[in-house]
Amino acid sequence: MEAPGRTLAGLARTQQEGLMKIAIIGAGRVGTTLGTQFQRAGHHVVYGARTPDSPKYAGIGTVATISDAAAAADVVVLTTPWAGAQEALEGAGDLTGKVLVDATNPIGPGMVLTHGTTDSGAEQVARWVPGARVVKAFNAIGMEVMANPVFANGRSVLWMSGDDADACAQVAELAASIGFEPVRLGPLARARFQEPAALVWITASATLGREFSWGILRR
Ligand SMILES: NC(=O)c1ccc[n+]([C@@H]2O[C@H](COP(=O)([O-])OP(=O)(O)OC[C@H]3O[C@@H](n4cnc5c(N)ncnc54)[C@H](OP(=O)(O)O)[C@@H]3O)[C@@H](O)[C@H]2O)c1
Repeated sequence: MEAPGRTLAGLARTQQEGLMKIAIIGAGRVGTTLGTQFQRAGHHVVYGARTPDSPKYAGIGTVATISDAAAAADVVVLTTPWAGAQEALEGAGDLTGKVLVDATNPIGPGMVLTHGTTDSGAEQVARWVPGARVVKAFNAIGMEVMANPVFANGRSVLWMSGDDADACAQVAELAASIGFEPVRLGPLARARFQEPAALVWITASATLGREFSWGILRR
């Protein structure tokens, strides 16, 4: 059966059922992994790409220009390399009022964060797109976890941060719809710690492999 968000009738259902219209900017490994999961959960997904007619996108779903994809979406997910983030956002058109999920990691050569703990990539994104409601999420886990956040002993925690409580709630709902346990760390400035957490995950993967994630032990 076709995913409900993939047709015009599906779009109408999307609006009725509270499913989301999502644009994913950057149809690479993370973009297509998240996009596949969102579509499976019933959300309407359009990928935004620099060369939407390229045969490399055959079979992934609907691919449009970055501005067309973003214009039709309520939630825009940024999944480009950090080096391409500003250019991609400049091509996205007016994102005022939209939820903008920043899944990037501002990692430069030598695995060094280009924005240290007195600033963050997410805050830089918010400065580039001041009208968007930026939420940092999906950055501190590998794409294998995005493909399946459910483990034998629980659901993967998804760290997230953002200044707009309603935007964070929407992203938490989106993350939960694909199996995550979302945990909001606080305002967007908490991305200063969430981005280094990606380096913890990447470093740990050298010994643990890539099928592990963050979890919480509670008393
Ligand atoms: N890989 C992971 O497990 C993982 C996990 C968490 C977070 N992340 C973060 O997620 C981001 C993407 O990682 P990835 O592994 O998915 O990379 P990737 O496979 O190389 O995909 C990057 C995508 O971004 C597009 N892109 C590059 N520059 C662009 C620009 N200027 N404008 C528009 N689109 C552009 C590329 O499209 P073209 O084909 O046009 O070049 C490609 O589709 C990175 O910031 C990374 O740090 C990765």
